[in-house]
Amino acid sequence: MERSGGRENLWDERAQAYRDSAPHASGPDLDLLVAWAGQGEGRTALDVGSGGGHLARRLGEAGFAVTTADPSAGMWPDVICQAEELPFSAASFDLVASRLASHHFAGAELALSEMARVTRELVLLEDLLFVDERVEEAEKLRDASHVRAYSLDQWHELFTVAGLEIEATEVIERQSSFSAWLERCGCKGDRAEKARELVSHRLDGDSYTSTVFLIEGVKAR
Ligand SMILES: C[S@@+](CC[C@H](N)C(=O)[O-])C[C@H]1O[C@@H](n2cnc3c(N)ncnc32)[C@H](O)[C@@H]1O
Repeated sequence: MERSGGRENLWDERAQAYRDSAPHASGPDLDLLVAWAGQGEGRTALDVGSGGGHLARRLGEAGFAVTTADPSAGMWPDVICQAEELPFSAASFDLVASRLASHHFAGAELALSEMARVTRELVLLEDLLFVDERVEEAEKLRDASHVRAYSLDQWHELFTVAGLEIEATEVIERQSSFSAWLERCGCKGDRAEKARELVSHRLDGDSYTSTVFLIEGVKAR
């Protein structure tokens, strides 16, 4: 598998599109993550793969002192780094969260163990749930940096291996514009047509259904 670290420019070019993206800026998934995070006053949070900064903004509004981490300089993170190698000491943050980024991590197991290492208390993860191989193929056609979406069983296993006890799991179906989804990654022409054909079972006109999972993990004592 390729590492995503050599693709900073790809994400730099997309940064404004992700800052402006409506499906990233709000939604029941984002509301639930922030509810799980709880009261932020006097607490610190690390947002891993912070992208356009929507989760970080909401955690900041909830009172957390937030540090953002992302390999893309164009995303304007506080710290430029990869999830697989977080440059922080053990137990540096009360909460570590990552939203819609881990399907880009070449080393999901390593990334989760890094998140578990640097949290004192909670790890909150949201990402695309594995649907089927047609969706995986469409994701890769649309975005060369897509590595893999995993099933809930696979994530539960990774949480356990990382020493995190699972407090809650939720699955949410989200509808968004398919053409805007392609556009954010500059996917056009034959690739776009092939991707459309592959996910035809998830499309209703331009409305694309994607499925995300959210897991709340607590550091085992
Ligand atoms: C869809 S955006 C994240 C959206 C953001 N979390 C939000 O709530 O708006 C995906 C991000 O993952 C980042 N990324 C890709 N590979 C990564 C890695 N190995 N470690 C950390 N972040 C990575 C990209 O640079 C990009 O900014």
